Amino acid sequence: MLQLDFHPTGRHFLQIPGPSPVPDRILRAMSLPTIDHRGPEFAVLGKKVLSGIQQIFKTRHPVVIYPASGTGAWEAALSNVLSPGDQVLMYETGHFASLWHKMAQRLGIQTEFLAEPGTEHGVPLSWRRGVNASLIQARLEADKAHQIKAVCVVHNETSTGVTSDISAVRRAIDAAQHPALLLVDTISGLASADYRHDEWGVDVTVSGSQKGLMLPPGISFNALSPKAIEASKSARLPKAFWAWDEIIEMNKTGYFPYTPSTNLLYGLSEACDMLLADGAGNGLNATFARHQRWAEGVRAAVTAWGLPIQCGDPAVYSPVLTGVILPEGVDADAVRKLIYERFDCSLGTGLGKVKGRMFRIGHLGDCNDLTLMAALSGCEMGLKLTGIKLAGSGVLAAMDFFSANPAQQA
Ligand SMILES: Cc1ncc(COP(=O)(O)O)c(C=O)c1O
Repeated sequence: MLQLDFHPTGRHFLQIPGPSPVPDRILRAMSLPTIDHRGPEFAVLGKKVLSGIQQIFKTRHPVVIYPASGTGAWEAALSNVLSPGDQVLMYETGHFASLWHKMAQRLGIQTEFLAEPGTEHGVPLSWRRGVNASLIQARLEADKAHQIKAVCVVHNETSTGVTSDISAVRRAIDAAQHPALLLVDTISGLASADYRHDEWGVDVTVSGSQKGLMLPPGISFNALSPKAIEASKSARLPKAFWAWDEIIEMNKTGYFPYTPSTNLLYGLSEACDMLLADGAGNGLNATFARHQRWAEGVRAAVTAWGLPIQCGDPAVYSPVLTGVILPEGVDADAVRKLIYERFDCSLGTGLGKVKGRMFRIGHLGDCNDLTLMAALSGCEMGLKLTGIKLAGSGVLAAMDFFSANPAQQA
C-alpha cells in the first residue's frame, strides 16, 4: 500500500508542469506562525504581496488574490464580467482551454469554440499550435452587432507546451474594432514566460500559485483592467465569494473580506523577493531567460531521441514545459509509470484528446541544469526499457547544449 510521505532516498524529481518544486526559502517563509489576519502586522504582509504581484503581472491595476486553485479564478473571471446568456469566443488550444470552455457553458454562457482544423501525428492540429489570431479577427469582424462580450484564450497551454502570442490577440480585437473584453489564462505562464497585463491590453488575467511562482497550490489570481472593473458593475452572473468589489475595497488597507491563506501569502512574499530581485524588473527578465534556456536544452534531448515535440510551431514553444509524442501504439502513461517507479521522477500525463499519446516534461520554477539532466536521464532509461527505438541520446545532446550555453548572469 502507498504510504504518505514515504520516499526512496534522495529528492523526488517533480518534473510535472505544476505544481512545481517549492524552494526551501519559500518553505521556510511559510513555516512562520500564522498571525491575526485583522491585526496590524497582517496589513504589512497584505500590502507587500498585493504590490509585488502587480509587478509580476506587469500591471498598475488591482490584482485579486483568492484562496482557491486556478479553477476558482477561472470562474471568478467569467462571473465578474458576464451575464447569463452572454456570448463569448473561446479558442481551443488544448485541455485547459477545453475545461475553461466547459465551465463557461456550465455557467450559462453561450460559447463558441474556435479551433484550427486538421490532425498531425494523430493529434488535433489545434493541440499543436498557438492561438491563430486571424481566426479571432475574422469572427469578430463578422459580429457587426457586437454580440460577443469576451474573447477567452490560454496563454501557456499546459497540456501541449504551447505559448500563444497574447499581444497578437489584442491586435486582432483592435483591428476588428470590436469592444469585446480579453480574458487570458496564464495559470502556468506567469513568472516563467514573459507576460504583460497592461501593455497587452488584457482585461482579466487568471493565474495560480503552483507553477512559476514556486508556491504550493492554493491561491490564485485575477488581474484586472479598468474596463473589466467597469463591466463588473453591471454583470449579472451570480457571484458572492468571487465578487471583486468588496475584495478590492478591503485590499486598499492590506486586508481581505474573509480569512486569507496567511501562510501561502508569506510564501508569496518570499516568491516576490526572489523573482523581483533588483526591483527593476530585471529579476523577471533573468527568470524568463532561464526558462527559455532550460526549454531549449530539453528540446535538444527530445529532438536527439527522434521523437516529435508536441508543439509543432517553433515560434510558440513553451519555456515552461515540453510535450513529447510517443510512437503510435505505445502507451505513454505506462512509460511514465515505469519512470516513476524505477527512477522516482514524476512526469506530466497526456490530458484529454492526447491521453496515452504523449507525456510532458516540466522545466519551470526551482530547477537547474542538473535537475533537468536527471529528469532527462530518467526519461531516456524509461523510453529504452519500454523498447522504443531512439534515434540517439537526448541526455548527451542536452549535456552538450547546457555546457555550450552557459546561463547569463543577471
Ligand atoms: C493553463 C491552466 N489552466 C487552468 C488550470 C487549472 O488550475 P487548477 O488545477 O489550479 O485549478 C491549470 C492547471 O494545471 C492550467 O495549467
